[in-house]
Amino acid sequence: MTQSIYVTRAIPEQTIAALAESFDVEVNPDDRALSREELLERVRGRAGLVTLLTDQIDGAVLDAAGPQCRVVANFAVGTNNFDIAAASARKVALVNTPSVLDDATATHTLALMLAAARRIPESERYLRSGQWAGWKPMFFIGQDVDRRTLGIAGLGRIGRNVARKARGFDMRILYTDVRRSEDFEREHGAEFVDKATLLAQSDFVTLHTPLTPETRHYIGAAELRQMKPTAILVNASRGPVIDEVALVEALRERRIFAAALDVFENEPALAPGLAELDNVVIVPHIASATLETRLRMGEIVVRNIKQVLSGGRGDCCINPEVFGG
Ligand code: GLV
Repeated sequence: MTQSIYVTRAIPEQTIAALAESFDVEVNPDDRALSREELLERVRGRAGLVTLLTDQIDGAVLDAAGPQCRVVANFAVGTNNFDIAAASARKVALVNTPSVLDDATATHTLALMLAAARRIPESERYLRSGQWAGWKPMFFIGQDVDRRTLGIAGLGRIGRNVARKARGFDMRILYTDVRRSEDFEREHGAEFVDKATLLAQSDFVTLHTPLTPETRHYIGAAELRQMKPTAILVNASRGPVIDEVALVEALRERRIFAAALDVFENEPALAPGLAELDNVVIVPHIASATLETRLRMGEIVVRNIKQVLSGGRGDCCINPEVFGG
């Protein structure tokens, strides 16, 4: 009997077609996240699941799926919706889509930096509102990007990629991470600093940490106070890395110049007052949203599901202990 795969929300049709070559595939027909009850119901009897960050995959979901369920592939690089211990205990392989979205996410980070520094969304809103009465010198004054200091918090693949792209602007690169990378320092003339130095010296602070108990509210009221009044805070990592209520207050009081956010603490809700501020660029979690990237993510998902369901090891499995020795 052909194994069954459930896909919790529409992903590229090419990915679905590739899965359908080997499996019975059912896709959530509604363009919305499944409720918990729907998820528990629809996973039943599946050999594999394709999930999103909005689906909490824990022991209850895996038990509802049943013992034949061997693989859950997130259509995302993030894995904070997975209970890894619960999956490993049940010998279910968990898969994510690393690397293929680094360029898109890093490019988007630069786009956010530039948009906030040069006040592009704010000035566009002004123009569209019909208020523009002609050029004047002291109009929508922004911040230089070239040769300024970029502080990268979290030096994973995306943080490194941002550094590489930022060199096109001759930026001075500072970084902080749980570990030092001398190769990176040599390659980019980057300086390893502690968090306080990074916050105090950077003109742009960009966050690229995973969301863990240690990084929740990595930027809160105290950290915002340590930043320059001219600084710009950029977040394309995970929303809860910033205390969004504290950020609204700092932006309202103009304690930093601006923020640019792709992710939010309680998506899709925004902290009260955030959307009314002019000194913040906000976009709806689209950092990796290019067609090419989505197709590459789909290739990883299909390849890994096939690998695991044919008895092999998934090459993007994040809990390889399920395959034994
Ligand atoms: C998107 O946020 C992802 O983790 O892929």
